[in-house]
Amino acid sequence: LNKTNLKHFLTTQDYTKKELEDILSLMGMLKEARKDNAIPQLFKGKSVAMIFEQPSTRTRVSFETAASLLGGHALFLSPKDIHLGAKESLEDTARVLARMVDVIMARVNLHETVATLAKYSSVPVINGLCDWLHPTQIMADLFTMMEHLPEGKKLSDLTVAFVGDATNVNSSLMFACTKFGMHYKHIGPEKFQAPQSWQDIANKNIKESGGKLTVTDDIEEVKGCDIIIADSFYWFGQEEEKEIRLKTFIPKYVITEELMEKAGKDAIFMHCLPANDQREVTREVMEGDRSVIFDEAENRLTAQMALLVYLTFRFNEEPTQEKI
Ligand code: CP
Repeated sequence: LNKTNLKHFLTTQDYTKKELEDILSLMGMLKEARKDNAIPQLFKGKSVAMIFEQPSTRTRVSFETAASLLGGHALFLSPKDIHLGAKESLEDTARVLARMVDVIMARVNLHETVATLAKYSSVPVINGLCDWLHPTQIMADLFTMMEHLPEGKKLSDLTVAFVGDATNVNSSLMFACTKFGMHYKHIGPEKFQAPQSWQDIANKNIKESGGKLTVTDDIEEVKGCDIIIADSFYWFGQEEEKEIRLKTFIPKYVITEELMEKAGKDAIFMHCLPANDQREVTREVMEGDRSVIFDEAENRLTAQMALLVYLTFRFNEEPTQEKI
């Protein structure tokens, strides 16, 4: 193995736009192959260790299914089952797992944890969500945006409005959308807006891509947006703030049919799920014609298949059309 090729997937910021486009193309090929029941066995004989410090439906099922569809195997490892952090350090866990598996995927409480795993692992480490980022979600989101592009538009023509809190999905979308030259709006109450450090990263992307960033508390900014995105108003570790958060966000930042009308007749709705209906979004919007939330969920599987293939091949050699 040529370790100089080792690349982790902790954030899309570690990837060029071209590399992200390559992953998106691979997603397209593998999604088509799945429809034809002809997925190439590119992960045959390989395995992915999946560490979960937090619960998950989509991330767990999509990685496990992706490994299996590609001819490989996935191991679910919760901190209750392995020595992680109790009897064994992160550093040793990373080195031991890397001697046995081909990819490590970790959903962790703190970014530092997945960064340490990556530092000590000799196989690719994928960030399956941390307190700061959710990059695998964003590959699914970009692909879903491409599948639902308005007539005659390309990704860089889109204006995306993320309504709500400065969540890990929001940060990752902000970074990826600005890298692709989109106009990204974070619309939320001042106290919960994207910190300057995130805006600095997005603005650096914008200098290269020609995109735009707007951070505002003005909900009227949804007007003319192509995509409206919502996320939970509170997450693990924020339970104590639950009441104050709900009071701050509801009703102004709840996605309703009325708000979708305000965005424009062709605007679509996205949500990484799970959603708390009647909190950040109404059930009517989730079930409505503009909602693409279940396409988005399905594309988690599309993304994980591509990531397993891309990172495994990248570790050894660049993927080629012939190999795919
Ligand atoms: N969107 C997402 O990451 O879902 P899970 O928490 O179910 O994995």
